[in-house]
Amino acid sequence: MKNVKNAVVLVTGSGIGRLMALDFAERGARVVIWDLNAGALKLVQEEAAGKGLSIRGMICDISNRQEVYARAERLTGEMGPVDILINNAGIVQGRPLLETPDDFIEKTMRVNVLALFWTAKAFLPAMIQRNSGHIVTIASAAGLIGVRGLTDYCASKFAAVGFNESIRMELRRTGIRTTVACPFFIDTGMFSGVKTRFPLLLPILKSSRTAKKIVQAVLKNKELLILPPFAGSTLILRLFPPRLFDAAADFFGINHAMDEFKGRNGQ
Ligand SMILES: NC(=O)c1ccc[n+]([C@@H]2O[C@H](COP(=O)([O-])OP(=O)(O)OC[C@H]3O[C@@H](n4cnc5c(N)ncnc54)[C@H](O)[C@@H]3O)[C@@H](O)[C@H]2O)c1
Repeated sequence: MKNVKNAVVLVTGSGIGRLMALDFAERGARVVIWDLNAGALKLVQEEAAGKGLSIRGMICDISNRQEVYARAERLTGEMGPVDILINNAGIVQGRPLLETPDDFIEKTMRVNVLALFWTAKAFLPAMIQRNSGHIVTIASAAGLIGVRGLTDYCASKFAAVGFNESIRMELRRTGIRTTVACPFFIDTGMFSGVKTRFPLLLPILKSSRTAKKIVQAVLKNKELLILPPFAGSTLILRLFPPRLFDAAADFFGINHAMDEFKGRNGQ
């Protein structure tokens, strides 16, 4: 298990990011959260303080490249180089393609995809210099299978999976590790209203347990975490012709999962 005492850990987004941040802080890491929502940052900081921990919150819109670079410089200057970067912030609109406003499609790509590039470019050089560090990508099971009503989100999460795999290849002869997490739906509220047909095989995940599993995977330098493991069967189903793959997705209720989606806007 990796020792994270005094390590600088940066988590973007404070949904499930809040729980990962608290877990790392409890292990003695110096944790920073970036979020554009000041209220969310305040809540995490207060929760940490209530546990005798300290988490630093910085307002940062990760979809803004200049802002990411500026915040990264400030953070590194004040706390030293980032040891573990957890790219977690994400957004979803949850509408069929033709009902999704163009602006939102672009925003999804900026937050869920392009921000991965800006944060990696900001923090990777110092990791390479020290030959040590860890880049974590919170993708999704939606990065393993396309879902009706989630075209922009799935495309962004497939991109996140591809981003992770490519940098893993680039970094494999270095001391820098990567982890990609592909969870099924989690009960944070981001996907409120979604349904699962077989809750025993594909349960809506509890955020506390999911955050713990992701932190454990990082500490163990695990490259890939699929939750629940059954969601990994999509990788095997890909060996079959698309018609069979699609029929299996229908059978498991994947294409009806979004029928009653409300998300954060409809909560
Ligand atoms: N909730 C799920 O069902 C689920 C399932 C699989 C994967 N994921 C992924 O896990 C990650 C975390 O999801 P969550 O459930 O905690 O979501 P959430 O909505 O609870 O939290 C997302 C956080 O990201 C922040 N954020 C959004 N846009 C931002 C921006 N431009 N700059 C900075 N911060 C921004 C929000 O303010 C919020 O605090 C996301 O990448 C999501 O796609 C979620």
